[in-house]
Amino acid sequence: MARQKQLKLGAIIHGVGGNPAAWKHPDVPSDASVNFKYYKEQALTAEEGKFDLVFIADGLYITEKSIPHFLNRFEPITILSALAASTSNIGLVGTLSTSYSEPFTVARQFSSIDHISGGRAGWNLVTSPLEGSAKNFSKADHPSHPERYKIADEYLEVTRGLWDSWEDDAFVRDKASGVFFDPEKLHTLNHKGEFFSIQGPLNIARSKQGQPVIFQAGSSEDGKELAGKGADAVFTGHGTIEEAKAFYADVKRRAVAHGRSPDEVLIFPGIGPIVGRTEEDAERKYQEIASLVTIENALDYLGRFFEHHDFSQYPLDEPFPELGDLGSNSFRSGTDKIKQDAKEHHLTLRQVALRSLTPRGNFIGTPEKIADLVQQWFEEEAADGFIIGSNVPNGLNDFVELVVPILQERGIYRTEYEADTLRGNLGLAVPENRYAKKKVTSEV
Ligand SMILES: Cc1cc2nc3c(=O)[nH]c(=O)nc-3n(C[C@H](O)[C@H](O)[C@H](O)COP(=O)(O)O)c2cc1C
Repeated sequence: MARQKQLKLGAIIHGVGGNPAAWKHPDVPSDASVNFKYYKEQALTAEEGKFDLVFIADGLYITEKSIPHFLNRFEPITILSALAASTSNIGLVGTLSTSYSEPFTVARQFSSIDHISGGRAGWNLVTSPLEGSAKNFSKADHPSHPERYKIADEYLEVTRGLWDSWEDDAFVRDKASGVFFDPEKLHTLNHKGEFFSIQGPLNIARSKQGQPVIFQAGSSEDGKELAGKGADAVFTGHGTIEEAKAFYADVKRRAVAHGRSPDEVLIFPGIGPIVGRTEEDAERKYQEIASLVTIENALDYLGRFFEHHDFSQYPLDEPFPELGDLGSNSFRSGTDKIKQDAKEHHLTLRQVALRSLTPRGNFIGTPEKIADLVQQWFEEEAADGFIIGSNVPNGLNDFVELVVPILQERGIYRTEYEADTLRGNLGLAVPENRYAKKKVTSEV
């Protein structure tokens, strides 16, 4: 019998949390977002739980209303480099924006982490939702949503081209003959496109896993198309299993339309499990966090998704205001969903704001209940894996200690790492160097 497909797991390390008030909780170190010891402990906990990866999210613009974690946090590449030296098997995935960076630099950075970690790097490619980012990067305007995805498409193509500058055995390093590399195995990209003009070659070799793993985190039509065409994995978020299944099928269908196998793109919904030894215990943990936030916190949090819109101007207990197109040039899939939910469920502004800030989610309860849900989503093709966020303090520790052993017992999750590269653990093939492949094809 073919080996049963195994569940994949990732953990978001998110400092003082995605909630503006979580830092006040006694179990949260109030400087967690810039505390290396905290990041290292979280990464080691995830590795103890045999997680595939840890993930560092990022954004490029703040205002005084941004949540505490956004005000003072590590830059992803830097913290991942440090974590590479402190861990041994777990994948190291970080966000970097294609709208506000240069492909040559980014290709080098992720390739360097890939070498330092022995083939464990992953890039979460995002197009940057926040309009204000332009002001921090000497740009007159934030590119429009479709333009950002056009840039991202070419950017990914160029980066992958740069990563193939050297064939795998290009560096001979023969001291006796004095030959350092084989010039036949060095390739210059010479890319000239709509947005980028890049000669190459890149000044670093391919790594043990060939190329870093590409994650993609936009869920709009353009985002799904980019994922289907070129990503190895997708971070997404869904309130119900039905929505998650539809998204899963949609992205896999797009991959097939681009001539890929559906197994070449893995879907990771983000969840924030709240695990208690009993239902009441889980509920208490949720209430402890929910009770720390104010409605002002919730309005500011909601405003960020809608281009920092000021929601304090509307009555709280009347229907969610009509916002027209607001939000569609930033967090498009997220703001579309908020507007749609508000309409469908006749929600007031207060309800929408509080739901966004302190979502209860489905994944709350005893370890068995959470394991049942994880298994159901996995087996019914709503997810290939999950990215676990800590909605409550110690959320990751609880999941590793109480839920992971159940998933292992049920045979759907590993008890040991299969490989020492991120691709190896995710079951993704090492992409062959395009030039070496061409040579083999033309020889046949
Ligand atoms: C688990 C997860 C992690 C994400 N991480 C980031 C991130 O670090 N930075 C970012 O700009 N967007 C991130 N996103 C994506 C945004 O939330 C948002 O959906 C996206 O930028 C908007 O893309 P769209 O216009 O295609 O919907 C993440 C999404 C999910 C589900």
